[in-house]
Amino acid sequence: MKDIAHSADADTVEEALAAPQHQPVIDSEGATAVAMQNTLLTPRFYTTDFDQLDAIDVSELREEWDKLIGQMKADPNKGHFKKNEDWDHIDWDGMDPKLKAEFIDFLISSCTAEFSGCVLYKEMKRRGANEDITTLFQLMARDEARHAGFINDALREAGIAVNLGFLTQKKKYTYFQPKFIYYATYLSEKIGYARYITIFRHLEANPEHRFHPIFKWFKEWCNDEFSHGEAFALLMKTDPKLTSGLNVYWIKFFLTAVYSTMYVRDHQRPAFHEALGVDPDWYGQEVFRKTSEISRQIFPITLDIDHPRWMKGLKRMQRANADLARHKWHGNFLGRMGASIRAASAFVSLLTIPSVPNEVPAQTRLEPAY
Ligand SMILES: [Fe+2]
Ligand SMILES: [Fe+2]
Repeated sequence: MKDIAHSADADTVEEALAAPQHQPVIDSEGATAVAMQNTLLTPRFYTTDFDQLDAIDVSELREEWDKLIGQMKADPNKGHFKKNEDWDHIDWDGMDPKLKAEFIDFLISSCTAEFSGCVLYKEMKRRGANEDITTLFQLMARDEARHAGFINDALREAGIAVNLGFLTQKKKYTYFQPKFIYYATYLSEKIGYARYITIFRHLEANPEHRFHPIFKWFKEWCNDEFSHGEAFALLMKTDPKLTSGLNVYWIKFFLTAVYSTMYVRDHQRPAFHEALGVDPDWYGQEVFRKTSEISRQIFPITLDIDHPRWMKGLKRMQRANADLARHKWHGNFLGRMGASIRAASAFVSLLTIPSVPNEVPAQTRLEPAY
């Protein structure tokens, strides 16, 4: 804990990272403390109205549903999340300290996000009585537990592990009503797929930038996320109200929030992206493009990410967030207020870009194609 003593005084990880005195996380207590953070930009744990979820009737989508569950039960990635001869040795001590700090932050945040899915899905499986629903959530919890465990294994080589049992008990749970869980989780699964596959394809073409073996595992990994997203698309399909009327504004809100949060968060890791040989602006747009294309399977709109205000708004939001973290750290109240107002106004500017209408296809299911 000592090692993030300075960071621990900060309200958020962003502050800790922006703080001049910032010390990198170098032990498990520090890693768990980072995973415990609840801010707008860090992965949260969710809870919901499980009875409402349990009441979903998938019988109208029986054919698509059973096919998906069949694929998941077949468990093509059963043996995938284990280290093998492709797992190269990593010289953690020899790694550039800035890269090491950002990469560890990336791993902790990814592990927390994976585990957040696991906790939510496991709870649904535990509380439910509807066999379709409990079967699905059991299968998804299985996958997310593997994903989180695999990242933790990678962290262990650096002498760090996130204490997942402690998180389950002590991390704050945020309540979302089921429809918000669908929008947020569907998007996080599909954006997770798009993120992993974009990095995988980039490193396939530029293997000299693959500075850690975990990236070799991303292809099969992202197919799990793709399937999870498919399941949420089908769940939303059971009730047309979820994707029409006023809910379209909620969908737009979630798309904008998820995309802009990812953009801000990724820009906090410049050394990580440089090591990967990836321009974070290019990466962001690439991931948004793939996610938008996929989300046309269920959402009646997509965001206009080529609109002149889009990239401008993201950059304004990112700069405001960086300033906010700095002012918070220095206890500059007026500076904080100013930066918060700028961040909020950038978000509103993004939110008011007209969206692109989309004709949702009759058949929902897609296969991973990138
Ligand atoms: Fe996952
Ligand atoms: Fe997932």
